Amino acid sequence: MPCKSEWDTAALVAADKRHVWHPFADTGEWCAPDHKPLVLVRGEGALLWDSEGREYIDGNSSIWTNIHGHNHPHINAAIVRQLGLVAHTSFLGFTNPPAIRLAEAIVALFPPETLTRVFFSDDGSTGIEAALRIVEQFWRLRGSTRTEIVAFRDGYHGDTAGAAALGARSLFGIKGEGWRAPVREVGNIKDLAALPGAEVAQIAAVVIEPLIQGAAGMKLWAPGTLRELRDWTEGKGILLIADEVMTGFGRTGTMFACEQERVVPDIMILGKALTGGYLPLALTLITERVFRLFAAAQGGDGTLFYGHSYTGNALGSSAALASLQLFAGGDLLIELRRKIILLKELLADLEPLPGVKDIRQCGFIAAIELAGTEAATRAKAVCLEARRGGLLTRPIRESIVLMPPFAVTTGQLRQSIAALKAAIQHVLQKAESVSP
Ligand SMILES: Cc1ncc(COP(=O)(O)O)c(C=O)c1O
Repeated sequence: MPCKSEWDTAALVAADKRHVWHPFADTGEWCAPDHKPLVLVRGEGALLWDSEGREYIDGNSSIWTNIHGHNHPHINAAIVRQLGLVAHTSFLGFTNPPAIRLAEAIVALFPPETLTRVFFSDDGSTGIEAALRIVEQFWRLRGSTRTEIVAFRDGYHGDTAGAAALGARSLFGIKGEGWRAPVREVGNIKDLAALPGAEVAQIAAVVIEPLIQGAAGMKLWAPGTLRELRDWTEGKGILLIADEVMTGFGRTGTMFACEQERVVPDIMILGKALTGGYLPLALTLITERVFRLFAAAQGGDGTLFYGHSYTGNALGSSAALASLQLFAGGDLLIELRRKIILLKELLADLEPLPGVKDIRQCGFIAAIELAGTEAATRAKAVCLEARRGGLLTRPIRESIVLMPPFAVTTGQLRQSIAALKAAIQHVLQKAESVSP
């Protein structure tokens, strides 16, 4: 049901432009008088409403976080229940029931005696930072000189300094070497396999987005890549870090992307959909083997000097537990697989459109790449135009991303594709009519 316009949109937007600095947005463009950002005020299921009562399908799951839909009664109730007890208490020197239960529930999702330990943080980026610290200290405790982290070209692991050093460096304009972690960038496994032994001996860990590089534009790894990488790291005694911040919790069709190639990494990072898309929380999972080294260290050497004010937050942990409960029994993933098949069928309708270069799908993630030198500008225009068909999403350069919450109905999924089709046709026709 669309909400009545009880909001003063003009006043809100004016105050926003006066005081708010938005992430990943051209600052001047955002503040320009003709820019009218949507003010989102309410959500239910896969739908969002803006301050003027317009309804949209949340086509990118509120930046890849939401899975069960907005305003989900089960997650709402869990947060409210915890709120009645306490919202947050320090994890420094104390612990709390929701965090303990969450750690237990997450570990139970992996084969016994594999990823048995859970380190809490706030978002994907800080989950990665924690992983980097763990890796560095792990090798130091072992008296090794290994310090280098291998990351794949075009990968994205977050935007805090350490995480940014692992990928998309050009995106962040990072030029100086002084403040970045020691990182070696490679294109693929062949590059790794070709490294001389002396260089391999410097590698502490390899980090990968399993199955699909998200911020790179939803680029799929060739099947078997992850398995091959796991075999290589195991053979060389190097740690493997799987960044499942985007892929975790069903997004690729299985609970975790790593399952599809029967890989259990040494370290795994979970975030985004962990709380169902409700609250900022991330987990860095570690194997018993890695943890044991820290536990056995003497004289404070086993202390991990990392942790934030909101580490182990009780509300976030309660939301995450409630989200996991919704997966129990397996029906949700079975239903999701039906929607993945439908998405594939619907995407086929976009393939023949002029201006469409490539369509990629991995589970419930789709990217529609446009062709030509103007592709990035057009992809942006398509996303704006799709709003008229009731769809909200964002492009990554020349690719339009569609990855709604799993709670999207089949009708809404059809509407999303129809909105994209109309928008692509509209933008292309307009471009042709102005070209000489
Ligand atoms: C694979 C991957 N890792 C890490 C991150 C960083 O997560 P956050 O934005 O929550 O810090 C992202 C964000 O898009 C991501 O896609």
